[in-house]
Amino acid sequence: MDQDALKKQCAQAALAFVEDDMMVGVGTGSTVNHFIAALAPWKHRIAGAVSSSEASTRRLKDIGIAVRELNDTDGCEIYVDGADEVTEHLAMVKGGGGALTREKIVAQASRRFVCIADASKLVPVLGTFPLPVEVIPMARSLVARQLVKLGGRPVLREGFVTDNGNVILDVHGLTITDPAGLESELNQFPGVVTNGLFARRPADVLLLGDPAGMRRIDRKR
Ligand code: 5RP
Repeated sequence: MDQDALKKQCAQAALAFVEDDMMVGVGTGSTVNHFIAALAPWKHRIAGAVSSSEASTRRLKDIGIAVRELNDTDGCEIYVDGADEVTEHLAMVKGGGGALTREKIVAQASRRFVCIADASKLVPVLGTFPLPVEVIPMARSLVARQLVKLGGRPVLREGFVTDNGNVILDVHGLTITDPAGLESELNQFPGVVTNGLFARRPADVLLLGDPAGMRRIDRKR
């Protein structure tokens, strides 16, 4: 099975968490695109979707799913999203697609976070995938210097502007042994909008597309 088939496998498995009349939070990325496609038969059964990006909004609307503003809802029953890296404790690095800020908002507003990923995303320690940090453009150099002091190598994502009009610094060279601590620390830098660590609000369930068969890991509480 190739990687895309594994993404599709876990995306389809996430449908088991969708119930009638639910408000469904929808993430961003190639794995989520499979989930959106799989959601099509549910379009008249769910209450609607809250989207984490303009790209996912377009896809949802294309298949006739009603996309709601988060402010007009009472949050979502579930949030389904991919990850760039995920640990067995279900802390994640996200933002490879640049949608980290809205993803974090919708995740926070959701009662259950179902992460869908192929098995290559499961890692013992976060940090091999460069950590995305969304930054207000005028603070780009200031934040980059602070990230260097932390031991990282920030690289501007060239030619990329987020849905919120900001830039992304991808931080290489971090070994992230305390994801929740680093998530909080980075959030204190003036100019940082969000960082791609999802540890303070980790996933609740991980569905892992694996050549040996779908694996499910539930977060221990
Ligand atoms: C987008 C994300 C994605 O969930 C992450 O990049 C994984 O993407 P894919 O499913 O394409 O591998 O965080 O901002």
